[in-house]
Amino acid sequence: MIPVTDSIFLTKLELSDAETINAHMRDKEISDNTLVIPFPYTIQDANTFLEDTAIKEEETGVQKNFAIRDGYGVLMGIIGIHFNFGLDAGKSEFGYWLGKKHWNKGVMTTVINKFCEVAKEKYKMKTLEAYVFYFNDTSMHVLQKCGFACTNDTITHTKRDDTKVLGIGFSKLL
Ligand SMILES: CC(C)(COP(=O)(O)OP(=O)(O)OC[C@H]1O[C@@H](n2cnc3c(N)ncnc32)[C@H](O)[C@@H]1OP(=O)(O)O)[C@@H](O)C(=O)NCCC(=O)NCCS
Repeated sequence: MIPVTDSIFLTKLELSDAETINAHMRDKEISDNTLVIPFPYTIQDANTFLEDTAIKEEETGVQKNFAIRDGYGVLMGIIGIHFNFGLDAGKSEFGYWLGKKHWNKGVMTTVINKFCEVAKEKYKMKTLEAYVFYFNDTSMHVLQKCGFACTNDTITHTKRDDTKVLGIGFSKLL
């Protein structure tokens, strides 16, 4: 378990987190602002995500996704590193979401700052990158608060429903 503050912790995801994840996903904004989270979301989607995460982490021996928990151990959101350039590349994209009831309290700013330290120390990352949908001003603002700069790189993402969304690149040297 990695303490972020006295009341925010990063831990492993558990299969028992499915109900809480499913409840957070009733807010469509989480799906709207992320690439692969479906809407409507079902308990089966949560189970599949948790099982896939457990299998991949078991196969590689590397923890990819972290539960963001409150002081009572309740899951508030998730942050994860993608290793999209490989496990030893020193560079990776990462992604994150927080349940809507926790928004605008500074949680993700604090979590991303800690996550940058974890990525550097635990995964020997030199650079973290994120692509943010062009309309997600909140996420861009959070990244900038955490020292990320816009790279002016863009990617046209294809969502699960086949719609195309422009992602704007952000990057930070750790
Ligand atoms: C993006 C997200 C993780 C932010 O988490 P959070 O804990 O609410 O973020 P914080 O409270 O640390 O910071 C939010 C900042 O954005 C600001 N903000 C809020 N709404 C905003 C808006 N519409 N435009 C610009 N900034 C906005 C807040 O004022 C705050 O900045 P401040 O501290 O300078 O006042 C959360 O909104 C979320 O999960 N969204 C849906 C999923 C998502 O977008 N994931 C990221 C994909 S790239």
